Amino acid sequence: MGKKAKEIIKMDAGKVIDELKKAYCDEWLAYHSYHYMAQNTVGKATEDMSEMLEETAKEELEHADELAKRIVELGGTPVADPKKWGDNANAPYPYPPEDMDDNKIINVVINAERTAIDVYQKIAELCQGKDHLTYQLACHILQEEVDHEEDFENLTR
Ligand SMILES: [Fe+2]
Ligand SMILES: [Fe+2]
Repeated sequence: MGKKAKEIIKMDAGKVIDELKKAYCDEWLAYHSYHYMAQNTVGKATEDMSEMLEETAKEELEHADELAKRIVELGGTPVADPKKWGDNANAPYPYPPEDMDDNKIINVVINAERTAIDVYQKIAELCQGKDHLTYQLACHILQEEVDHEEDFENLTR
């Protein structure tokens, strides 16, 4: 990041980097869990469920990419070791249910999405008026997490 780009951040960039790094780990864990579940669905709605999970998984991976880009811009390094993702995330790995029951899968996703909403809400609040670019990124991801929660909540109605 250039001199001017650093100057316009009116807060501790280290604090922003820390929060983005935790969110980066959350996204990888969600990506892996959703992708795994997409590959291993067994319920009646297998094809639809699988497609929805895969689409959502891809968006989580995009989030990880977008976060990584901002972490690097701010001078940080995203957590490289997959073994460390669990310990450095905001939430534990969203474990796929053993029996891969559709309703349990939906619950796993909804819980993970609600955590994600809290995470990006918090990052947006932290950066609002102080680091516009991270604020904008947090709002963009927040919108997609809100959509994910709704998509999976709709399956329970
Ligand atoms: Fe995400
Ligand atoms: Fe999501």
